[in-house]
Amino acid sequence: MVFLEAVIKETLRINPPSSTASRRLTKSVVLDGVLYAKGCTIIAEPRLAHIMPEHFQHPEKFEPERFLPPRNEGRMYEFIPFGGGVHACLGIQMAMVITKIFANHAISLFDWQLTGEASFVQFPLKKIKNNYQINLQPV
Ligand code: HEM
Repeated sequence: MVFLEAVIKETLRINPPSSTASRRLTKSVVLDGVLYAKGCTIIAEPRLAHIMPEHFQHPEKFEPERFLPPRNEGRMYEFIPFGGGVHACLGIQMAMVITKIFANHAISLFDWQLTGEASFVQFPLKKIKNNYQINLQPV
């Protein structure tokens, strides 16, 4: 289950289902020498945050073990599929449990045969192209 959780996190890192977390500034702030004025909307974009090499080694690779010791990547505000702060997703635990149950059934009930390399559309949400096929046979 520990590794399955890491696989789910790695999937959320590469394919975040929600494209943005937005905040409207209630006061002006300066970050890294840039002024963000009161009233501006700041958008945190997981598709960009999750491929920053200073936070994720080899971000182009699917490596669930990045979320496990000793690497322990995906720290707070670096891994943001559920947003962050006081308005972070309230359903994180529920989403993780449902995904684990679904993945456990999908993996144990079917033999999965991939039919080729998957490709993705990037906008408005990153997702696998509709023409990609996976051959599933009941075990
Ligand atoms: C994989 C599944 C899910 C993903 C990727 C997801 C993602 C997100 C994201 C990105 C936000 C915005 C967070 C922010 O602005 O910082 C959010 C907010 C929220 N989510 Fe989820 N969510 C998921 C499942 C769920 C589930 C299952 C529930 C409830 C049962 C839920 C309830 C909420 C609520 C209530 C908010 C608003 C929180 C607030 O504004 O204070 N989410 N979610």
